[in-house]
Amino acid sequence: MKTTGRTSAWLLAAALLVVGCRGEAEGEVEDDTAAVSALVTSSTEHVAAAPISAAVDWTDAQRAILASLSPLPARAPADPTNRWSTSDAAAELGDRLMRDPRLSVTGQRSCVDCHRPAHDWTDGKRRPEPVLGDDSFDIIDRNTPTLWGVGLQRWFFWDGGSDTLWGAAIRHLESGAIMGATRLGLVQRVGRDDELRRLYEDAFGDWTLALDELPSEGRPGARPRHNPQRQAWDSLTEQQRFDVDATTAKIGKAFDAALRRLIAPPSAFDTFVAELDETGSSNALSAAAVRGLNLFIAPDGCVRCHSGPAFSDGAFYDTDLRTLEGGTPDWGRLRGVRQLLDDTFVGRGIHGDASPFHPRNTEVAALPSVPDPNWAKLFRTPTLRRIAHTAPYQRDGRFELLEEVIEHYMVTARALGLRGLSEGERGDLLAFLEVL
Ligand code: HEC
Ligand code: HEC
Repeated sequence: MKTTGRTSAWLLAAALLVVGCRGEAEGEVEDDTAAVSALVTSSTEHVAAAPISAAVDWTDAQRAILASLSPLPARAPADPTNRWSTSDAAAELGDRLMRDPRLSVTGQRSCVDCHRPAHDWTDGKRRPEPVLGDDSFDIIDRNTPTLWGVGLQRWFFWDGGSDTLWGAAIRHLESGAIMGATRLGLVQRVGRDDELRRLYEDAFGDWTLALDELPSEGRPGARPRHNPQRQAWDSLTEQQRFDVDATTAKIGKAFDAALRRLIAPPSAFDTFVAELDETGSSNALSAAAVRGLNLFIAPDGCVRCHSGPAFSDGAFYDTDLRTLEGGTPDWGRLRGVRQLLDDTFVGRGIHGDASPFHPRNTEVAALPSVPDPNWAKLFRTPTLRRIAHTAPYQRDGRFELLEEVIEHYMVTARALGLRGLSEGERGDLLAFLEVL
């Protein structure tokens, strides 16, 4: 999210690699354009010859894919690393905190300023403005994603830099550019506010931190070394630091419980699948959207990556958007994994509730400690639920229109295993994306 920060060997390795690859990628793209125009011509003929009507005979394989895409679950499943992930009391605190600007360094920004509920949990901007906190040099160079279905994901952020939703929430609270909260300031604010403290105690039991013995602000790792925030944190005993971290983890887990409930309302697509299942036919979608659906779920269609009820397989891919708009490098999964391995608030860390042998934790433990430089090209497949309402698109918000996203895929089609589409088919695909 930030381009500032450590100048480690990791980033140097990545820099060399990304610079090396950019030239290569441009070559690839040119080849693909030629290949796509050939495909486009042939598929236009195909469409003209055999228009697909809304009354499609769905094969068993297609029906199986439809059943994997819809319906959405009523709630995201529990996360074993957060034993409160389905607690109503924890969700109530989390929901309250999402809307509390007092948690931010300026006292004026809350989660819902960027993840706006009325805007499908996005802000409608290319990139949000940073909050001018302790790290006022920070910039935010990524687009605000929707939070619909975020609890269905395995990894969080565009680069998978968190493996738990509670850790992701804490990352955002503490990010200098996003909220700028300090770890001590956060527990002080929650513990000293009557309402927040009551909600906390309803969810997690008695409040145990002795707030009078703790500084009012302070956080670990603040730079430079003489930063007063860091000095305040370093003045704590080891036990105090552990206790503050434990309370912070619980606050994160309250956000998790609230975020896990954000499931998009059923769409026309869900009605279509349900009616098809019950009665064998449905008029919930236009003929164009049904044709688009057919293209989407084809073996060489978008469902290769945008699968499951959130239309995301949660995995990481190179879709040839390696640098951010304007050419700024983005370290992708390379940086994401580094953050994951450094973070206190990860599933396998001391504040996670699942055993170290739980698959969620062994999977992270098995990540190679020597980075694979190719990860710098990889980003997580985002959800496509409510996609027509969450412009602008891509992780840097470079595209205002879904048409532009589809055009981009036509250039990269071959490399991604996608079929090139005629103009008519692109319109059909767009009609389908609009009913999600
Ligand atoms: C300044 C705008 C802003 C604010 C305020 C903000 N976010 Fe975010 N949020 C973003 C951006 C930008 C990203 C993408 C960051 C990235 O992937 O690097 C994001 C991503 C996320 C994600 C990951 C979503 C996914 O699909 O993996 C979660 C979870 C999240 N935010 C929760 C929160 C919570 C909880 C708060 C409040 C404590 C919050 N955010 C406050 C802008 C904001
Ligand atoms: C190889 C996996 C893969 C395939 C195939 C794929 N996508 Fe994606 N999609 C991604 C990834 C990864 C991103 C995020 C890329 C980024 O911004 O860095 C993405 C981003 C998007 C976005 C932007 C979402 C947002 O919130 O900004 C849209 C829309 C989209 N894809 C639609 C499609 C369509 C339509 C197709 C088929 C033509 C398709 N995708 C095929 C992996 C894939």
